[in-house]
Order: sequence, then C-alpha cells, then structure tokens
Amino acid sequence: MLKVDNITVRYGGLTALRDVTLELDEGGFVALVGANGAGKSSLFKALLGTAPLAAGRIMFDGRDLAGLQTHERARLGIGHVPEGRHVFKNMSVSENLMCGFFAASRTVDRQRSLDFVFSLFPRLAERREQLAGTLSGGEQQMVAIGRALTGNPRLLLLDEPSMGLAPAIVDEIFACIGRLHDEQSMSVLLVEQRVGEALELCDRAYVLQSGVVTAEGAAEELTRMGHISRAYSGGLE
Ligand SMILES: Nc1ncnc2c1ncn2[C@@H]1O[C@H](COP(=O)(O)OP(=O)(O)OP(=O)(O)O)[C@@H](O)[C@H]1O
Ligand SMILES: [Mg+2]
Repeated sequence: MLKVDNITVRYGGLTALRDVTLELDEGGFVALVGANGAGKSSLFKALLGTAPLAAGRIMFDGRDLAGLQTHERARLGIGHVPEGRHVFKNMSVSENLMCGFFAASRTVDRQRSLDFVFSLFPRLAERREQLAGTLSGGEQQMVAIGRALTGNPRLLLLDEPSMGLAPAIVDEIFACIGRLHDEQSMSVLLVEQRVGEALELCDRAYVLQSGVVTAEGAAEELTRMGHISRAYSGGLE
C-alpha cells in the first residue's frame, strides 16, 4: 500500500531524513520509533507533501505521490493526526469532526461516519457541543483522531498521540487505535516515544536515528537485538 523508497528530506543545510526506505502493507500496523529530532515528523511531512523530497519517491497504492498536493493525498485515503493535536479550539467537538469531511475521498455517509467516531469515543458523544479548546488533553487527542477518521482514510498516520497525556488516558487511546486496526482493518503508521506500547501494538517497526533507518523488523526481534535501547542512548551502548 505504502512504499517509501530511499527518500531524503532537507531543510536548507540540515538533512532531516537520509535515504529512508519503509514499507507498509494494506491492513498493516507499522511503528516508527526514535529519539527527539530523529526525523519522525519529517517523514510524515514528506508523506503529506508539506516537506519536499530532495531524493527518492513515495508510492501509495502503486501511484507516485510526487506533485500531489496535501488535500489530494488526503482524498486518496491518507489521514493524519498531527503532533500536538491542533484541534480547532473555538469550534465544537462535532464541528471539528465535520472538518474531516473535506478530506473524504468520496461521498461518505456523514452521519454514519460521525456515529462511528462517537461509538469509538463515547466521551466525545457526551461532549459533542462543547468547545474543543475546553476539553482535556486526552479528549482533544480523541477529537484529532476522530477528525482524521471522518476523512475516511485507509491509512492513518498518528504522530505521538500519547504526548503529554496521563497513563490511563494513553491506555484508552492506544486501545482505540488497536481496535481501528483489528476491527476496521485500518492500516496504521504510528510514531511514538512510548516505545513499549507502540511495539506491543504493531506488526513491524522501524528505528530512526538522526534521519537514518538503523533497524527494522518484528517488534520482539528489535527489542531482543538491543536496537531500541541503542536508538535512545545515541548509539553509545
Ligand atoms: N521546518 C523546519 N525547518 C528547519 N529544520 C527543521 C524543520 N522541521 C524539522 N526540522 C529539523 O529536522 C530534524 C528532524 O525533526 P523532526 O520534527 O522530523 O523530528 P522528530 O523525530 O519528529 O522529533 P520529535 O520526537 O521531537 O517530534 C530536527 O533537527 C529539526 O530541528
Ligand atoms: Mg515529531
């Protein structure tokens, strides 16, 4: 479904990603882990078309994404839950979720789409008229995920959904992501600093260090081989 083929992303003189190759099969769940500044969000920017490729290419469903605008990529079925959530604070929960409709690839059953998000996150159903800016951090994260879902994606990009949240709410959010994958066959690419949880959920993982993929494979394998701890100790172990 997704093939990232030897991409390089540069910001001026800084190389954020170098020759990164990554693959995700339809219905797969891939985790991308790595320390702060490793280039995880830059990979998402490349997928969304908000950071230009200096080299390489990205294929989605066999189609080269080069030259496609962000909204065109959304229509193809790439949904994004941004780092830091970015909900529209002065809009209600329902209005935030309805913003996702603009990204929907075809004429979706909007009511069904909203009902699905409310069934996944009952807390949002109870607060549907509440201004998103007055929600707790965890609830705002649910809105951010819900807004991506009303865009009817087939691939969901999640950028550190646990950031700044209490453990209980993180568990709830990870459980929902797991359900999306298991019950809806959603393809998921998850960026996380909570490596343990991410590795438990995913089928395969990639380790990114200073813009380079240093390991990839099944989660247990990466942990056993010490790749994960090395990625977070700057390779000093
Ligand atoms: N717009 C930009 N202009 C210049 N440099 C940037 C820009 N965006 C990111 N960078 C740099 O690229 C590198 C990778 O950043 P990126 O945000 O992709 O890392 P990350 O792995 O997502 O980190 P974090 O875990 O802190 O979110 C960093 O050194 C960062 O300073
Ligand atoms: Mg980031």
